[in-house]
Amino acid sequence: MKVVSVVGARPQFVKAFPVSRALRERHEEVLVHTGQHYSETMSDVFFEELDIPAPEYNLGVGSATQGRQTGAMVSRFGELAERESPDVILVYGDTNSTLASAIVAAKTDAQLAHVEAGLRSYNRSMPEEINRVLTDHVSDLLFAPTQRGVENLRKEGIGDGMVHQTGDVMYDAIRWARCRAADRSTVLDEHDLAEGEYVLATVHRAGNTDDLQRLEAIMAALCDTDRKVVFPIHPRTSERLDECDLRETIAEQLTLIDPVGYVDFVRLLDGAERVATDSGGVQKEAFFLDTPCVTLRDETEWVETVDAGWNVLVGADEAAIARERK
Ligand code: UD1
Ligand code: UDP
Repeated sequence: MKVVSVVGARPQFVKAFPVSRALRERHEEVLVHTGQHYSETMSDVFFEELDIPAPEYNLGVGSATQGRQTGAMVSRFGELAERESPDVILVYGDTNSTLASAIVAAKTDAQLAHVEAGLRSYNRSMPEEINRVLTDHVSDLLFAPTQRGVENLRKEGIGDGMVHQTGDVMYDAIRWARCRAADRSTVLDEHDLAEGEYVLATVHRAGNTDDLQRLEAIMAALCDTDRKVVFPIHPRTSERLDECDLRETIAEQLTLIDPVGYVDFVRLLDGAERVATDSGGVQKEAFFLDTPCVTLRDETEWVETVDAGWNVLVGADEAAIARERK
């Protein structure tokens, strides 16, 4: 069977790492990188350290508005899919790369397989929620990580025959990375961090970075934390901090670093007293590593982590963040 797998953004490289290895043992895989993420720290580092096969194609779409970026991917991937004529197009998660590939699959004879199907935050103002819903509704094979994912799909009329509860491929990835980090990562020493005595922060969600009030409230709460806070800054957030002149203010209080590779990130998360994040994947990884999580969003698609008491939703409410950060 010929499978064309599509990745484009940081979390998709992590998800593709275990899947691609297993897939290539039995099937022909052609890996396509849309180019949605392209900086060394957002893309290359993952291919190198996770030993992901070099993509056969890079569509080089880069950054643009939602519509332009998605449209460019549909156009470029559409041509490629016609040429490659795969049996299956395999997509991951909820980014614009996911949706664009799903649209292409729906217009060809290829079956569409979606890893991380069935997740819902029920907040349709997030581009990721739209990407998830639309992708699931044109998928032929839906790989749901959780029972809740299966139930969400059933409620939308997507039946059992197409839905498989597979567990979470990010669990496979993190098990490997945790061992590797214990052997090789020096990231704690590099930033003078003591095990269990710092807070890790990540912020990149458009709803937080592009709303100045929310961004300021989150930064104020992080700066007011009585532990050291290490903050690997996503490029979107980095740009916003410069635009609104916040970088200098927070640099006095927070340890600002560039985004790190996956192994170092897992080490940072494993060693943290807690994590404050608006990431999807990081909430779940915190749960896997027993690190308490404070989620800087009003809702989550990973409801199990909240139900289990490991994750608290605080939005961008400065007082609520302060209450939970300890
Ligand atoms: C995207 C996904 C989001 C995911 C995140 C993972 C969508 C709608 N959003 O958000 O779901 O959680 O990736 O990190 O698909 N930039 C760089 N270098 C890069 C990539 C981006 O400098 O390699 C900067 C550009 O200024 C760009 C901005 O970051 O405009 C945002 O990038 P984009 O891919 O549009 O969205 P993300 O915020 O990364
Ligand atoms: N991650 C990383 N380096 C960082 C920040 C995150 O390797 O500096 C990893 C993290 O472990 C997780 C993935 O990137 O596997 C999550 O990506 P992100 O938060 O950008 O996207 P989301 O999960 O919110 O879509």
